[in-house]
Amino acid sequence: MADTIGGDFTAVARAHSNIALVKYWGKRDIAVNTPAVGSISVTLDALATDTLVSFEAGLDADEFLLDGRPEPVPRVSALLDLVRDRAGLALRARVSSTNNFPSSAGLASSASGFAALALAASHAAGLDVSPKELSVLARRGSGSAARSIFGGYVEMHAGTKASGLDSFAEQLLPAADWPLSVVVAITEPQPKPVGSTSGMLGSAMSSPFYPGWLETADRDLDVMRRAITDRDFATLGEEAEHSCLKLHALMLTTRPALIYWNAATMAAMHRVIRMREAGLPAYFTIDAGPQVKVLCAPGDAAQVAVEMNQVPGVHEVRISALGPAAYLLDDDSPALTQAGR
Ligand code: DP6
Repeated sequence: MADTIGGDFTAVARAHSNIALVKYWGKRDIAVNTPAVGSISVTLDALATDTLVSFEAGLDADEFLLDGRPEPVPRVSALLDLVRDRAGLALRARVSSTNNFPSSAGLASSASGFAALALAASHAAGLDVSPKELSVLARRGSGSAARSIFGGYVEMHAGTKASGLDSFAEQLLPAADWPLSVVVAITEPQPKPVGSTSGMLGSAMSSPFYPGWLETADRDLDVMRRAITDRDFATLGEEAEHSCLKLHALMLTTRPALIYWNAATMAAMHRVIRMREAGLPAYFTIDAGPQVKVLCAPGDAAQVAVEMNQVPGVHEVRISALGPAAYLLDDDSPALTQAGR
């Protein structure tokens, strides 16, 4: 049952961001937000969103604060509506989220944000949902959020059903079974110019590479799954870079072009390649934004961070271990405090 504070249905959840090793780009069905391809990611310990959901009598509409500032509500309300329908609840909600990293800058704030929202809202509404059901729910908010329900190494299934009920993520391997570090180089702290959803639709309509993207997805997933099973870091890294570069080839050939990289993004990529030539096994990956994430062994992370800090245009570097599944927080958590509880 949901906790009640002052008679309201309230819960707080934390979810961690994730970075895809084999990327998701393209929709099968926009109405239920099913992906055109599966994907494989790692959950990041250092990047997290805390979200409070409080269903309250007397609210005329849902309210959403992100890092203390009012934000557009429609995407949040659409997910809350799914929860309300299932729980038979009519109450509107106050939602307050805090990110411990820059929002909407290609650090997957929608992934951790919608995963935390799905968990907090379900719990606040008193629903008893399995992790798989939570993953399906989080996907309706953002495809990558389906993966942030789980910790460690995670695979998202594209699914084939019109309902989207077979389009969910599951854990491939817990974080502790194969420790890995991700060094995040922030090259631009401002929000990205084109969001993923419209970018994906543009790529499907206009990039001549989109058919090739769909055709090669299953092969990429098979190879990555095997690399994780075999703890084969060189294959994991090479395939992650390949998937990243294939994604950006697709983006660059979309009309209008999606050019997410800046000069520092490119400089960081070259630096990673040089590190590798010098004998340090490190591999880059980049999402729909200019930030560069470098995959390496935990013992090499400090050295990789030093090198990334030397790249002109890199503002900040963070080292992350692999993170846990989404979980519920106590009522005295920072998110609750920020919301004035
Ligand atoms: C490049 O999950 O943000 O980060 O489902 O439209 O919300 P929507 O897209 P989103 O897309 C993520 C794209 C990516 C690659 C990835 O995370 O797999």
